[in-house]
Amino acid sequence: MIERIIRKAALAFPQVRRLKEQRDDALRRLEVLERQVAEAAARRSDETVQDQRADRAVQRALEAVRSEYTVLPRFAYHLPMDYAAETLPPVFDPPVIVEGESLPLPPPAERHGHAGGDAEYLEWGRYEKDLLVRFMRDRLPSLDGLSIMDFGCSSGRVLRHFHTDAAKTKWKLTGVDVSARRIEWMRRHFPRDINVYTGTFLPILPFEDNSLDVIYGMSVFTHIKYLWDTWLLELRRVLKPGGLLMQSIHTEHAWRFFVAHRQEAWARDALGPMLLEHAALPADYVYFGDLDKNQVFWKEKIAAEFWSRYYRDVEILPPPERYSYQSWVIARK
Ligand SMILES: C[S@@+](CC[C@H](N)C(=O)[O-])C[C@H]1O[C@@H](n2cnc3c(N)ncnc32)[C@H](O)[C@@H]1O
Repeated sequence: MIERIIRKAALAFPQVRRLKEQRDDALRRLEVLERQVAEAAARRSDETVQDQRADRAVQRALEAVRSEYTVLPRFAYHLPMDYAAETLPPVFDPPVIVEGESLPLPPPAERHGHAGGDAEYLEWGRYEKDLLVRFMRDRLPSLDGLSIMDFGCSSGRVLRHFHTDAAKTKWKLTGVDVSARRIEWMRRHFPRDINVYTGTFLPILPFEDNSLDVIYGMSVFTHIKYLWDTWLLELRRVLKPGGLLMQSIHTEHAWRFFVAHRQEAWARDALGPMLLEHAALPADYVYFGDLDKNQVFWKEKIAAEFWSRYYRDVEILPPPERYSYQSWVIARK
């Protein structure tokens, strides 16, 4: 109370009033300054957040690019050569020479899951080549001089048998696979008249439009989950009009096969819990897994419908008698 009276009295003196005004003014300016500092700090932290977001976006983009280039080691069978920072030519086990075979066999480590005995490796590949040639013979006016591509050829398990006939038939053979190592093996051990190259997961084929008569692929569309439709269009682009596309796929047959083996680790690993829950293919299509390991299933009627959008004369054939649980799609450009 006394203090207030003294203050009031003091303000009666002009010097004291001026001092008070100066103090109030200083306090107001301080307040403004504090506000400006706070706003600047807030802006700075906004910028920092934005910078961090930009950094993360760049990081994500880099990861996406990197994963496109390095996805290969994440895919069970894919063995790129240039994943490591320093790349030297790969060292392979010696090729296997089998009497009577014009081409060497890849050593077991390069056989891509077909690592059984040499005789079985050869017999299996020959059986599938004969099957494909039958499909071709039934549908093409002539087999002479065809240009044929094995899409996803691995180390040439089937393609090698086409080469055996090629001297007679004058076939022009090409193999493509995303597994650079297998391609490198063939480059070293197969003759130059088998044209081989490393492909990419993106649907781009380094071929002219309308340049191939036949494209076949064994157990490849069974694992093309991403961009399968664009792949179908790209294969169509390089096929000549009237050319044949022959690809094995998973349908109801394959699902039943997996179900029959549902107690085995490889089957569970391939299809996870879905396999235990559904005795029959549970939907029109099932894409399971990711780039590194995936399985693609279509009901026959859906495969026919989808593929007919891009091809004509689409046929879905049941699995052959031996070796495989995969159905065949045969279609024409
Ligand atoms: C299950 S393996 C079958 C290999 C071979 N067709 C055979 O039957 O022995 C699938 C093959 O397709 C290849 N592949 C997968 N996607 C591919 C793509 N987009 N382009 C080329 N090859 C691909 C894999 O690298 C692998 O060699």
